[in-house]
Amino acid sequence: MSIETASSQTGHLYLVGVGPGDPELMTYKAVRILTDTRVWAVPTARENGVSSALQIADQLVPVNGREILSLCFPMKKVFLGQETDDQLLLAWGKAADEVISHLDRGKDVAFPTLGDATLYSTAFYLLAMILERRPQTKVTVVPGITAMAACAASQSSPLALGDDVLAVVPAAFEDDRLRHILTSLDTVVLMKVHRRLDALIDLLTELDLVDHTVLIERSGLPDERVYTDIREARGKQLHYFSTMLVRKKKVLF
Ligand SMILES: C[S@@+](CC[C@H](N)C(=O)[O-])C[C@H]1O[C@@H](n2cnc3c(N)ncnc32)[C@H](O)[C@@H]1O
Repeated sequence: MSIETASSQTGHLYLVGVGPGDPELMTYKAVRILTDTRVWAVPTARENGVSSALQIADQLVPVNGREILSLCFPMKKVFLGQETDDQLLLAWGKAADEVISHLDRGKDVAFPTLGDATLYSTAFYLLAMILERRPQTKVTVVPGITAMAACAASQSSPLALGDDVLAVVPAAFEDDRLRHILTSLDTVVLMKVHRRLDALIDLLTELDLVDHTVLIERSGLPDERVYTDIREARGKQLHYFSTMLVRKKKVLF
């Protein structure tokens, strides 16, 4: 007979990519793990705000009957290798403590996240905080379909082929590297474009790349919008789910 001690009780943490919005783009594995996990920790941009990841997951795995930990992560820029904003550190620490309190009670916790967990997701800030405080935490990362893959597929376009070099850029940053990347690489994915749209249109016009660019807003969702002429989007309030694909080379002809 084995006696379960408090210290042997430990929950497992799952970081689950739920894809970019279309429920059919959630993987079987994501659905299985979310179905089996009673506690979900969900990211929101403000206190008691809605969670996009939760809304996506809920389309296939009903939230009802689950314990939902709503974790607020303010939308602030993170510059890796530089000192992190105190408000962010505080928010991540608070979120980590909340998740840890459930893991310590032997409960598994799933963290659904937009697209794939390994691409610009808060999941890894949360994980770093949890591992710092609770290094023994067992974690599984479940890959998801990225927004850039969904956007490229919707245009029947490859992201990269042959000797193409692909760059993925968080365009929310006013980054000197962007001009260089756009002039030197074959395909560039610009994410988080909604707040810098007009500046990006100016830059792409200056570099003569407008005809090589497509802008996809809310890919795979009922109100998806595609701008094959990005100049038509100038001045518009785009949804946060907006991505530009800049592809210079033709496939063959
Ligand atoms: C914080 S990043 C998350 C990326 C995500 N982890 C992934 O794997 O695609 C958010 C950005 O993803 C892109 N995005 C997410 N969902 C999208 C969608 N349905 N349509 C177009 N772009 C989307 C947008 O560029 C948005 O600003």
